[in-house]
Amino acid sequence: MNDLILAFEILLSIYKDGAYSSIELNKRAEGASNQAIVTRIVYGVLQNDVKLEYCISKITRKRPSKTVTVLLKMGLYCLMYIDSIPRYALVDNTVKICEKYGKRQLKGFVNSTLKNFDFANIELPTERNEKLSVETGVPLWLVKKYVKQYGYEETEKFLRAPLFTKEHIRNNSRVLSKEALREILDKNKANYSESAAGGFFVRNCAAVKELCERGKATFQSATSMLCAQSVGVEDGWNVLDLCSAPGGKAVYLSELADVRITACDIHEHRLDLIRAYVGRMTAKNIDTVYNDARVYNKDFEDKFDATLCDVPCSGLGVASKKPDIYLNASEQKISELSDIQYEILCNAARYTKSRIVYSTCTTLREENYNIVGKFVKENDAWKIVSHKQYLPDGQGQDGFFIAVLEKK
Ligand SMILES: C[S@@+](CC[C@H](N)C(=O)[O-])C[C@H]1O[C@@H](n2cnc3c(N)ncnc32)[C@H](O)[C@@H]1O
Repeated sequence: MNDLILAFEILLSIYKDGAYSSIELNKRAEGASNQAIVTRIVYGVLQNDVKLEYCISKITRKRPSKTVTVLLKMGLYCLMYIDSIPRYALVDNTVKICEKYGKRQLKGFVNSTLKNFDFANIELPTERNEKLSVETGVPLWLVKKYVKQYGYEETEKFLRAPLFTKEHIRNNSRVLSKEALREILDKNKANYSESAAGGFFVRNCAAVKELCERGKATFQSATSMLCAQSVGVEDGWNVLDLCSAPGGKAVYLSELADVRITACDIHEHRLDLIRAYVGRMTAKNIDTVYNDARVYNKDFEDKFDATLCDVPCSGLGVASKKPDIYLNASEQKISELSDIQYEILCNAARYTKSRIVYSTCTTLREENYNIVGKFVKENDAWKIVSHKQYLPDGQGQDGFFIAVLEKK
């Protein structure tokens, strides 16, 4: 019962106050008797939000209040996916939570709705975009956008890609070779495979955790590595990383060649994350600077051989791992983000002598090709030398966009 109350309170703060699931879970799940189940319920409800909304619309005549909707979502999710909680106990406890949260008069409604629920009786939409939306948990407006951009088949393929649960790590080349890392993984009988980016997909285990804590290796996605590699840094270069925290790409860039890096971010507390990461990885020649990349900084004018614009984005390419991304996404927010992304790219061009890498972890053209396309159209001096949209493939590849621009 207590774990159910905790999961409900966490969900309520996410749905009502816009809290982030990972932060709320970190803060509060410690108090649970079974942390795993609280985490599973919270992430499960968020991942299945569209499906749960749909079920509620089918089984209730009038939309309940926000609190009761969250309670019903949790109850329905548990009925569908958590076998270890018997139906009678689930219904009973959910009704008690309803009473505890002052919705006494709705106890009967919650009780009968959950008691009578059977997903097999819910008629799924027949229209294919709507069906895909309900079955994958991706909001309908976004499914429609994807279908327009990629066609239905491609969209279905990446939206239905299974959740990949291995981590991706790489060696810290300052202290450990790739071969030495492989030997450690072999010795520890770690379940791993090599990635095209030069790292390893691996199940997180005590040995991996220890390697990363001691700075001998680090968690970094394969796409993040590919992005840093595409900067093509050379010894002696001065490199600007405009949106740098927590510093994954900056630190990796500093290992790829003997470069000096100016690592910026708009959040002071996130600059601390870069400093901590630089310390753990014993990285060299990385200066952290507070800077708002949307605002022109004359101190940076024409100072850098290359600039990385790993811009703030909607994060849709990693939404399967961070389910509240769908909850908070909207067309309005994407349009606002694309304005910021364009401003950052325009400023980057004024700071850079030869190459810019523009990247996001999202899948929508509005934040990706459209930004660099518009930029080169309006800035004759620059050309796009390569651009690639990566889509989630269920085998460790996130949704990611990388474009390399050069001065003509
Ligand atoms: C995608 S993350 C960067 C990840 C980072 N490049 C890495 O590899 O670890 C985007 C970062 O941009 C920062 N940011 C957002 N708006 C910004 C702005 N206007 N100027 C500078 N940084 C900004 C955020 O604080 C966040 O740390």
